[in-house]
Amino acid sequence: MADIMKKVCRADEIIGRVGGDEFAILLPETDEIKAKIIKKRIIDTAATTMLDSIVVSLAIGYAVKESADQDIKEIHIQAENRMYKDKLRYRKRVKSQTIESFINSINTKYGRERIHVERVSRYCEAMGKAMKFNEKEMNDIKTAALLHDIGKIIVPAELLNKNRKLSKKEFEVYKRHPEAGYQILKSVDEYAGLAEYVLYHHERWDGKGYPEGLKGEEIPLISRIISVADAYEVMTAQEAYQKTENKEKAIAELKNCAGSRFDPDVVKVFVSLWGQA
Ligand SMILES: [Fe+2]
Repeated sequence: MADIMKKVCRADEIIGRVGGDEFAILLPETDEIKAKIIKKRIIDTAATTMLDSIVVSLAIGYAVKESADQDIKEIHIQAENRMYKDKLRYRKRVKSQTIESFINSINTKYGRERIHVERVSRYCEAMGKAMKFNEKEMNDIKTAALLHDIGKIIVPAELLNKNRKLSKKEFEVYKRHPEAGYQILKSVDEYAGLAEYVLYHHERWDGKGYPEGLKGEEIPLISRIISVADAYEVMTAQEAYQKTENKEKAIAELKNCAGSRFDPDVVKVFVSLWGQA
């Protein structure tokens, strides 16, 4: 950090550490316009400085002392307040970027994931429409479906790409992904409201699912819908399975599991939409 500031600052400027990870720079003869330019220069330099491939992030606030009778302490407080505001804004931005980078990393680990979540989201959207969801619920279900597997970031690539059944030990690892997804989304303001839908997308209507073994309507409706759409998508995933015959088999399987694995009402809606496909 000190290197970045030294690179950016002029020789007559004084840099000092004022807290563990806080620095102050005194800029003589600097008006607001110049202060803004310096702020931008520091941000740009930090953004291109990589430390072990982590982009250096920082928040900056400034205040200008315009007359001799202004108390420098007041100016410092003003600058500090602006820095805290900047920090909040920055955190939000960084967290959304983190979500994106997680998604990219899952997509790299497991090539089919992007198509999978997009299809699940489309099924969910149509289900929401059929179930007369309002605008907020529609947005929630579409986004939750797109993010339902984000916790797979913790699952090793070799497990995601396995074509055979997972061993008991491997399945234990795989089973942690809803909880991991929950933790990730909970930490981002924008998505915190969707965290529970993701947490419960592997629960079963009969209470034999995971992670908590919730039963029936204890499971949020959006999670129950994602669960059905998810299963259908997986059953019809491969090109060969896109044939009518296999779609019929998948629908039969959903019907078969209505009341055990799946919410029977949700299956009914699903079948009414795609049962004849
Ligand atoms: Fe999942």
